[in-house]
Amino acid sequence: MSNSTALLNQSVADELCAVHQYMYFHFRLADQGFGPLAHLFKKTAIVEMGHVEALAERILFLKGEVEMQVSHPVEKITDAAAMLAKAVEMEQASARDYNLAAQKCGADADAASKSLFEHLVGDEEGHQDQFEKQLDNIKRFGPAYLALQSLNLPAPPPPEE
Ligand SMILES: [Fe+2]
Ligand SMILES: [Fe+2]
Repeated sequence: MSNSTALLNQSVADELCAVHQYMYFHFRLADQGFGPLAHLFKKTAIVEMGHVEALAERILFLKGEVEMQVSHPVEKITDAAAMLAKAVEMEQASARDYNLAAQKCGADADAASKSLFEHLVGDEEGHQDQFEKQLDNIKRFGPAYLALQSLNLPAPPPPEE
């Protein structure tokens, strides 16, 4: 078995954990009427599912088995700011793990796994950035920010000529 397979399977487990956690956040936020943030979590969960797929394809190419374990149980967080803090933490941990995994794969002369992990680092840092922006806005404008975002106000009329 390739040395990369264990790293890839650990990453599948972390990605599945993110899918579950972000879907939980999605329907909890939707239930509280926070549509835009609920949508951001759903959209991100779908990207994480794509990461599972890419990792699984690499494992199969290396003639390994995809274990489909989930690394952690879902945390039942219902406060939006706490959800975002948790998500930022998860994305930072993933980026750190994938940077290390890329180094190990490189040292092991597995360039394709290395490049897959490097691609994932870029995605996770992008997610971290999006979640941090939302968290900053809640801190700046208070919890009302999320409620106001959800009003779906019509666009203002064009200015008079
Ligand atoms: Fe991911
Ligand atoms: Fe992510």
